[in-house]
Amino acid sequence: MMRRWLRLLLAAAAAAKRTVNMAGVVEVDAWMHHRAPPPRRWDATDPAALDAKWTKLSSGFYKEVHRATLGGDDVVVKRRKLYKADRKRAGGAALRGEALYHEREVRGEVLYLEYLRGLPGVPRLRGAWLDANGTRVTYAVDLAGSSLGDGDGDVGHRSRPSKAYAAWARRDPLACAAALLRCFESFAERGGFFLDDFAVKQFTVDERKDEIWLVDGPKALAGPIRDFFVRRGLPALPASTGPCSKKEPCPATLNEHACHARRPPKTQNILSVRPVAKNRFRRCEAGSAGAPEARGNCFPNGTCAPVGAHTHAFDVGAKVWALPAIATFASKKHAAAAGAVAALAAKMRAPEPGDRPTFAAAVAELEAARPRPPPG
Ligand SMILES: Nc1ncnc2c1ncn2[C@@H]1O[C@H](COP(=O)(O)OP(=O)(O)O)[C@@H](O)[C@H]1O
Ligand SMILES: [Mg+2]
Repeated sequence: MMRRWLRLLLAAAAAAKRTVNMAGVVEVDAWMHHRAPPPRRWDATDPAALDAKWTKLSSGFYKEVHRATLGGDDVVVKRRKLYKADRKRAGGAALRGEALYHEREVRGEVLYLEYLRGLPGVPRLRGAWLDANGTRVTYAVDLAGSSLGDGDGDVGHRSRPSKAYAAWARRDPLACAAALLRCFESFAERGGFFLDDFAVKQFTVDERKDEIWLVDGPKALAGPIRDFFVRRGLPALPASTGPCSKKEPCPATLNEHACHARRPPKTQNILSVRPVAKNRFRRCEAGSAGAPEARGNCFPNGTCAPVGAHTHAFDVGAKVWALPAIATFASKKHAAAAGAVAALAAKMRAPEPGDRPTFAAAVAELEAARPRPPPG
């Protein structure tokens, strides 16, 4: 018990020292877009590196996700599905339309994994290769536990936290909550990414590794990674500090994130790269709320309130499957810990962004509340 605790503590200390890796992004970009050799740290640069047997893990809207093994390790292999247009496309012709849009999402994911390599909550990228005339990237990443839950988080598709998530929260709510916060600290606070496709199913969990991961690709919102993504046409969100007035309200994030009460706002989803049809509007599930700035908040001086990591701080405190679920799942034996998690959740969903703790501060708060094992 003591040894495991010490191992986790040492791993956390090492991860805390790691920072974002722009040089890695530049190197992967040169391989992906300019045919430079792949990075030497990758141990899978063609499909032959993996065992031949792949099993389907999920098949979403545009991505195919498989499980495979690489040198004895379990990995997950991802790429966009092929379109009819891919097969018909004459050799060397550029990708267009939806195929191009989805290819860019996968490429953005590879760069997210490389930029934040080694940070808590970011699965380890093992490598990638190109096929279909160099127009499709396939990548392999470590298997990172099992799903945190499913459901989109709207009235018709409520979030259903997984058994693995609920069991961890029941047994050790402080550790589970700290793992969730460390994941957000990595991608949102240190990375400058934003998850507007905000749902429990984008995360995975492994209690034995003391970790919760973001497995789906977020969009670039701030810092050097955003500039880079914009230049390459990869999924990025516009800075939301434009002018606004009563007639011209501020743009909102996607509804699954913004949680508008009843109707979509006039300027729904301007922050999204993909315009979403009005008929796709679904109300958020009961118990979840969106931050004021995510719904489009016009300051009296006529500028829009920006969204950022502070908006995700609100989300973690206000989405029913996040900190509130952990506090609810905690067993009676851990009532004090559950109280600490619920109190932190309340602080994080403060309407005023400046009143919300940063993820780094929130993690420190929970770690300070953790009883330490006796020395020796
Ligand atoms: N690295 C991983 N480790 C474990 N499970 C994963 C991993 N990546 C994806 N998954 C599982 O596969 C599902 C689909 O992957 P995701 O990248 O979110 O695809 P999609 O874009 O189709 O939603 C996830 O919800 C998750 O449960
Ligand atoms: Mg997903």
